[in-house]
Amino acid sequence: MKINLTNSSIKKTKADLQIILVNEKDEKSSNSLENELLESLDFKAKDEALAFLPESKKIFVGYEEVSYDSLAIAISTAIKKFQSTTFKSAKLDLTSFDSSILKSIVEGTLLGSYTFDNYKSKKEKKKKQELIICIQEDAPVLDNIELNSILEESKIISKAVNKARDMVNTTPGDFYPEVMANLAKKLAKDAKIDCKIKGEKFLEKNGMNAMLSVGRASIHESKLIHLSYKPKEARGKIVLVGKGLTYDSGGLSLKPADYMVTMKSDKGGGCAVLATIWAIAKLDLPFEVHAVIGAVENMIGGDAYKPDDVLVAKNGKTIEVRNTDAEGRLVLADCLCYAQDEIDEIDYIFDYATLTGACVVGVGQYTTGIMGNNEKLKQSTVESAHKSGEFATSLDFNRYLRKTIKSQIADISNIASTRYGGAITAGLFLDNFVYEENKDKWIHFDIAGPAFVESAWGYNPHGASGAGVRMTIEFLKNLKK
Ligand code: BES
Ligand code: ZN
Ligand code: ZN
Repeated sequence: MKINLTNSSIKKTKADLQIILVNEKDEKSSNSLENELLESLDFKAKDEALAFLPESKKIFVGYEEVSYDSLAIAISTAIKKFQSTTFKSAKLDLTSFDSSILKSIVEGTLLGSYTFDNYKSKKEKKKKQELIICIQEDAPVLDNIELNSILEESKIISKAVNKARDMVNTTPGDFYPEVMANLAKKLAKDAKIDCKIKGEKFLEKNGMNAMLSVGRASIHESKLIHLSYKPKEARGKIVLVGKGLTYDSGGLSLKPADYMVTMKSDKGGGCAVLATIWAIAKLDLPFEVHAVIGAVENMIGGDAYKPDDVLVAKNGKTIEVRNTDAEGRLVLADCLCYAQDEIDEIDYIFDYATLTGACVVGVGQYTTGIMGNNEKLKQSTVESAHKSGEFATSLDFNRYLRKTIKSQIADISNIASTRYGGAITAGLFLDNFVYEENKDKWIHFDIAGPAFVESAWGYNPHGASGAGVRMTIEFLKNLKK
């Protein structure tokens, strides 16, 4: 879907269709016949409500409030209808709205029109359609510049989210660590950033025994992916670490059949991190950014790591494995150490992972759980998430849950002794691999819920949503000020 802005009035703008956003307080249409029709169709100005009047070539969509979610849902509802027609262009009048809503309109359009049909034998032909957005006729030059830059920025952000979705939706047969590494190289080349790929020899040589063990039974070699974006006068240094489990069977602590389905999504954190650094480079944000991804497949076999094994992580800490399905934290432990050993003077270190089912149970499928030691930083990442259109909430650590991951035989156990608070105990496990100097700079994002949802929600389709991308870009954009 192409999106263009115009300073022409809605009347003067030529298009095959018109999309009209309707709030409860608005008159639905200035045309009484149309009003009558809308009433007969029982059209209500509610989120996701739509009425298409083919004769007047108008699509009416409701929205309940002027918020990112409400407007993104409204436009994506309209765009889906538009896509189902053979009309080439649609126009939308935004002159009565504040400029800040353009972001939700552009992202709602581009995220809402996303489809994934790589595995359909018959593909829908991609139609060339255009959305023309009318902005103020006599707008001052500065306003036009601002709106155009919102448009361009939102296009890049949406492209990044859709890239993450594409990767996560790809099957484990087609997307294993080497594929992820090659894709990382491709994205790095496109964004003109550096990319280093390390294999198992490197992991062995560098004492990354926790990550190495998780991938041992897989026929695919584990890969450590490190991308770096270093703009000239960088104002800070941000490290993004991602869990890239291209498949999580659970290992010898095998998942029940029903729980294994969708575990292609266990690379969601790694994919989010890849897409985010690509977008940050494309947006020319003035920060040095590193993306470190542990791409691994957790499988079973004669060589599989076992419950009862004790692993030594890169920082020398010993980990008692009591469940091989708690593998993400083992991979992240080594990746966090690698990042902190390789990169000095870090300002922020964030990790992204589909880490626990407990997080989904606790806060629901749509929300990211945010953990860390720095209350202020946690709050500001929650705010960035909300501003960006993502849902997130802060989960608090406490000393009692911290005790539950103690081990009788090693420094730490990979699962807690309690059934409760699983998202937090996983976060506390990771805290053991965050160095003292970085404790206040670290945030853990558990995206197990929103990374992959099996039914469409709002402007998100079935499957991958690209969780983590928008909130991270928003956080960095706010750092600029
Ligand atoms: N990848 C899963 C977590 C997950 C569950 C992600 C559901 C997305 C949806 C993770 O590796 C896992 O299996 N965690 C276990 C931890 C347990 C063994 C302590 C879990 O959540 O059950
Ligand atoms: Zn697992
Ligand atoms: Zn996992």
